[in-house]
Amino acid sequence: LANGLGKTPPMGWNSWNHFYCDINETIVKQAADALVSTGLSKRGYTYVNLDDCWGELNRDEDGNLVARNTTFPSGIKALADYVHGKGLKLGIYSSAGYYTCSKQMPGSLGYEEQDAKQFASWGVDYLKYDNCYTDGSKPTIRYPVMTRALMNAGRPIYFSLCEWGDLHPALWGSPVGNSWRTTGDITDNFDSVMSRADINVVYAEHARPGSWNDPDMLEVGNGGMTKDEYIIHFSLWAISKAPLLLGCDVRNMSKETLEIVGNKEVIAINQDPLGVQAKKVREDVEVWGGPLSGYRFVMLLVNRNIWPANVTAHLEDVGIPPKTVVQARDLWEHKTMETLLETNISANLDPHTCKMYLLTPIA
Ligand code: GLA
Repeated sequence: LANGLGKTPPMGWNSWNHFYCDINETIVKQAADALVSTGLSKRGYTYVNLDDCWGELNRDEDGNLVARNTTFPSGIKALADYVHGKGLKLGIYSSAGYYTCSKQMPGSLGYEEQDAKQFASWGVDYLKYDNCYTDGSKPTIRYPVMTRALMNAGRPIYFSLCEWGDLHPALWGSPVGNSWRTTGDITDNFDSVMSRADINVVYAEHARPGSWNDPDMLEVGNGGMTKDEYIIHFSLWAISKAPLLLGCDVRNMSKETLEIVGNKEVIAINQDPLGVQAKKVREDVEVWGGPLSGYRFVMLLVNRNIWPANVTAHLEDVGIPPKTVVQARDLWEHKTMETLLETNISANLDPHTCKMYLLTPIA
């Protein structure tokens, strides 16, 4: 969407994957505090995004959405002020339907102008827009109404389409939103991660600055996977130029979680200005990769099987011309390999582990 936002994939936190509807203003403020105190905000995690269940079931007499009195008694404007005071941005959630997906609050269908103005007046910076309880019309009819409303709302608002891939939003989303979901909801397990990545990569050609494929939010730190599996999850999202929205309780992250989501070198791949989504270039040995700015390349070797694998990948598979000598840097070991490479790269991978390399051609 040509609103100047999302030049690189958005980064931040969202309440849903950990808290679901059990959310309140104290948790959100503490999450904002945690992004700052852990140093994650400096690494780029600046959006603090409410998901479903922030509002009352009924609009007020003027048709305005109302923050839920029991859980958000200070209102959204106060929350936005708090978050802005920390140098962060506030995201909110609604649906292109009569209700949001929880059915616990109204959606914005028919109220697009009013809600967009309301969000802007509260100081909201990001809208996630779901696809539940619709009137049965196509998303291609309903979503652009909100696009227009946001563009006229007088405040730049990142527009995240949460149309879960029903009508292939990658094929029509670019002029409508800054990102679009390509998959159904993620759950905190390895199969779910790998299947989101597999669906998402089908649409790789459609990703570009301002318009990203979204395989759903991160589960890193929620406890359902091993450290190595979370590293695969984070690596795949990074190379896929996916939004990096933390979905754990950022107030109580383990050292391990912080190490994964705070990996500067991996974040830099996600935020690379070239904005090209990596592809799965070999199925048998599972090689993913693609180009980066400055004539560099990223390569991810993944062993999704439950037996060890010796993987040999061809540099050409990720777009490096034949006979090019490259230097490889392991982005999880934080080590540059001493031997320069030509043609291949090989690694022994234990079950459910990966290797992520930054490849720089030299002279
Ligand atoms: C849908 C979305 C989720 C979340 C819930 C909230 O399922 O895909 O990400 O926003 O709705 O109800």
